[in-house]
Amino acid sequence: MAFRSPLINVMASAATKAARGLKRDFGEVENLQVSKKGPSDFVSVADQKAEEVLHAELSRVRPDFGFLMEEGGEIEGKDKSHRWIIDPLDGTTNFLHGLPQFAISIGVERDGEIIAGVVYNPIADEMYWAEKGAGAYCNDRRLRVAARKDLKECVIATGIPFHGKGDHLRFLKELGLIMRETAGIRRFGAASLDLAFVAAGRFDGFWETGLQPWDVAAGIILVREAGGFVSDQRGSKKVLEAPEIVAGNEIVHEKLRRLVERAGLPPKKPRPKAQTAVAERPEPEK
Ligand code: IPD
Ligand code: CA
Ligand code: CA
Repeated sequence: MAFRSPLINVMASAATKAARGLKRDFGEVENLQVSKKGPSDFVSVADQKAEEVLHAELSRVRPDFGFLMEEGGEIEGKDKSHRWIIDPLDGTTNFLHGLPQFAISIGVERDGEIIAGVVYNPIADEMYWAEKGAGAYCNDRRLRVAARKDLKECVIATGIPFHGKGDHLRFLKELGLIMRETAGIRRFGAASLDLAFVAAGRFDGFWETGLQPWDVAAGIILVREAGGFVSDQRGSKKVLEAPEIVAGNEIVHEKLRRLVERAGLPPKKPRPKAQTAVAERPEPEK
């Protein structure tokens, strides 16, 4: 049995607790009970409930840590060095469509660096976790990024911009350059799990533009502790400061990064203040 530190234990148990509600709600989505309430309302209640559980559990065990949460935004803690970075439900669109690819993502940031992360897929019951210097695991299995070096053999994950979000033309340019070099591109719809799958060697690489810190915080440490590389499109390791991310083993990461770069770098400017879901979410239909 892999040794889990007290920090990983509290994250894993908070994720397990919050997942109970998500599983119940997902069951309702699958049984199409949701139509009574209106799907987008339903999903926003589901992820707010999950976030409340995570917030309550984590502040009970580490009362001084700050928070950055997709729903609730930033909460400063007494301890200015540490904060939790939380996405209570990553893969909302999948959840809403009854697709079992979604997760709870919790990262721990210490002085700007991610030092631990947990990504939990409650349907597959896969708990991905990693801590700086201790390795990356799925449940009790040690993870290692894939060793493939030739892009022609590599399966690469990405996120595709959608209605009202992202730079569509730029993505098509990236896709045009990357698809002809690789064995296949996948769009599974939950960035935290995409990164967990890179850590597990299922995907050889991942790139996406337009992500927020809570989408990637836990995934970054999973990939790094599994021996992989993560950076923004310019190669900077300060991924939380940029809206784009590229991941893979050392060689695939660099090949992918160069292809993305060829599609044209976005203007170098700091990420706008993290947009919480509350600010982004459209008004529910009346
Ligand atoms: C989304 C997922 C998706 C990515 C989107 C994210 P959400 O998060 O991670 O894979 O492509 O950009 O916003 O909204 O489901 O938490
Ligand atoms: Ca997300
Ligand atoms: Ca979310």
